Amino acid sequence: MKEYDLTKSLEMFEKAKTLIPNGIFGPRNPMFLGNQTHPCFFRSGKGGRAIDVDGNEYIDYMCSFGANLLGYLHPKVEEAVNKQMQKGGLMTMPMDVWTELAEYLVEHTPLADWVIFAKNGSDVTTWCTNVARVHTKKKKILMAMGSYHGFHSWSVPTPTGVPDEHRAGVVTFTYNSIESFTKAFEKHKDELAAVILTPIKHDIFQDLELPVPGYFDAVRKACDENNVVFIMDDIRCCYRLKFEGSHEYFNTTPDLVTIGKGMANGHPIAVAYGTEKMKQAACQVYFSGTHFYSGAPMAAALAALEIIRTEGVIEKINHLGQMLKDGMLEQAQSHGVEVSWSGPLGIPFMRFPKGGPAASITFAGSATKRGVFLHPHHNWFVCAGHTEEDIKQTLEVTDECFAIVKKQIG
Ligand SMILES: Cc1ncc(COP(=O)(O)O)c(C=O)c1O
Repeated sequence: MKEYDLTKSLEMFEKAKTLIPNGIFGPRNPMFLGNQTHPCFFRSGKGGRAIDVDGNEYIDYMCSFGANLLGYLHPKVEEAVNKQMQKGGLMTMPMDVWTELAEYLVEHTPLADWVIFAKNGSDVTTWCTNVARVHTKKKKILMAMGSYHGFHSWSVPTPTGVPDEHRAGVVTFTYNSIESFTKAFEKHKDELAAVILTPIKHDIFQDLELPVPGYFDAVRKACDENNVVFIMDDIRCCYRLKFEGSHEYFNTTPDLVTIGKGMANGHPIAVAYGTEKMKQAACQVYFSGTHFYSGAPMAAALAALEIIRTEGVIEKINHLGQMLKDGMLEQAQSHGVEVSWSGPLGIPFMRFPKGGPAASITFAGSATKRGVFLHPHHNWFVCAGHTEEDIKQTLEVTDECFAIVKKQIG
């Protein structure tokens, strides 16, 4: 298979670096993606596919890092956005969709007695920790080591520039270890305001882990007995496991939940919701951002959520995810390459235990240069815009990539 030419993309990245610190931020920076294997800039997208600035087409398994759940440019979502924009995008006061979306979320989310709106996951995870502090009159936050809850000072993974005192109240334990959780909880419980957890472990570079039996029960019980708030950070998984919330999928009941990413098919909105008992504290914690009030992302969310709820989106993602998993595992075996496949069907990840990150870079880079966009170190996403044809075409590419990795690791 011929490898893509990325000339324009790489030239644009050189220019971007002269204008923007590092050219591109975060995990989209080429530094995290391998060596000149991935396009730096996309021009357009439709369904599960994206086209880069050189005109190369990709079956995109990063899906805007999870935000694209229905496929790029889903017509019903875009129509709702365009309609809302005709009325006004961001206005002085919230628009009528504000209450409409709140009502929709409360009606269809059993745990939600109220909701608030923001732009980013980081906005709402941080706000929830402060709500927990007001509710409990305590200060510390317990989180799993290595979990990502956003870029704000208290939890950013690389704390360059963050004063130590901003992290002084954050204590950690090992995800999925009830023993580690209990030990940390017992030590800090008199000062703990909240435990914040993701519904699955999805740390970069590592296998994804589903919660072990009894894990969330232990958290719930400890929180109940010690006046500690249980926050579920569902920003990444929301609407890919269960419409009513990933906590319902795993049978647990947090006090506060954050969602974002796939809820508006790429339009910028994030939400926190909670139970009645948290509402008084929620009323007291200041929350505002100039763009939090934009109507268009709310219209997008209303349209996207109704599609997810009524059109079998999660089933479709699971079906396609199963095809992808079965196909790639069969290929790995036939090439004699050991892999570790992890995660739910719609949020998969694959590692090479023998080849390490270098093999992941080769595999994801080779696939991307042949039209299947994969991240070497971050979990992938399947979206409802993907098709069976996309999966079949993906497998043609990955077959060649397993052969390349086999040569590298022997
Ligand atoms: C679990 C989780 N929490 C919070 C965030 C932060 O969200 P955002 O990037 O929208 O600020 C992310 C983003 O990847 C996430 O995966």
